Amino acid sequence: MSSATAIAHPNIALVKYWGKANTEYNIPATPSLSIALSALTTETTVSENDSDQVVINGLLVADKKINLWLERLRQEIELPSLTITSESNFPVSAGLASSASGFAALTEAISSAFDLGWDIKQKTDWARRGSASAARSVTGAWSTLVPLASDHPTIDSCDTTQIHDESYWDLAVVVAITDDTPKLFSSTIGMELSRATSDYYSSWVSSTHRDFTSALNAVAQKDFQTLAEIADFSCRKMHALMLSSIPAMMYWNSTTLDCIQVIKKLIAQKLPVFFTIDAGPQVKTICPPDLTDTVLERLAQVSGVKKLLQSKIGGGARSI
Ligand code: DP6
Repeated sequence: MSSATAIAHPNIALVKYWGKANTEYNIPATPSLSIALSALTTETTVSENDSDQVVINGLLVADKKINLWLERLRQEIELPSLTITSESNFPVSAGLASSASGFAALTEAISSAFDLGWDIKQKTDWARRGSASAARSVTGAWSTLVPLASDHPTIDSCDTTQIHDESYWDLAVVVAITDDTPKLFSSTIGMELSRATSDYYSSWVSSTHRDFTSALNAVAQKDFQTLAEIADFSCRKMHALMLSSIPAMMYWNSTTLDCIQVIKKLIAQKLPVFFTIDAGPQVKTICPPDLTDTVLERLAQVSGVKKLLQSKIGGGARSI
């Protein structure tokens, strides 16, 4: 009986992916840049069984995304029925990129259990088909996800690259959990709503291409200040786009706003720190490691913060 276990870290985007150029192959409309979080992990085991079963954090679930992904995979390769067991050490479906680490670990585990011999390109392409940000968790550390221009997109019309490993730039991330219940709009649904309804969508896509190029330069020069400004801008533009969609998507809560005020005060004191927020109410603060205690201490004073997590930059998905 074939079986394998893999682990992967979620990642947070500093230049955001929001919007799809192609839904069949899940090709993003925007290039994105992310860092993986070493302290947060998803561990996934796949093993042959009599029927498909998905167990996430101890609960048997009907996961449409995983089922569709398996269906598509089985159109390409022969696979037996599987039990997929996945455990994460952080809240799932709450804007903490659990689908990114989930599909990255699942892809790695399947590749290993059935000796598929997938190279990194095939792993990132299949993980991306499950959830596009998962491709960046396959490569981990500092990763880019870039759509490749094509009139007839296929599964490989996208590039995922680890541009630097986890030791490149010693930065810390503090995650303020302000609500750990699942989000109202999944990213998949939310970004299709933005594409179909927001007047700002095309400016979002074109300006993200510019932000991406500037962010790559900032990372190459370890220019924290410039990276902070671009990440802040990309985050604000994505949330403005969400708000301008019909129906409007507002992922923040009042504690999210209080955390933002706290970080803004640190920025006003000229401290090297910035925050970013994905499709959920959690606030992710990035700073040099020697500022972690200050950030933790300030965010701990915000009433409504349920939990604070701290992390360094982590690597890619791997079999264990
Ligand atoms: C806001 O990768 O979860 O976190 O491809 O539809 O599964 P699907 O979307 P997903 O979207 C992530 C959106 C984001 C920004 C980002 O990670 O770049």
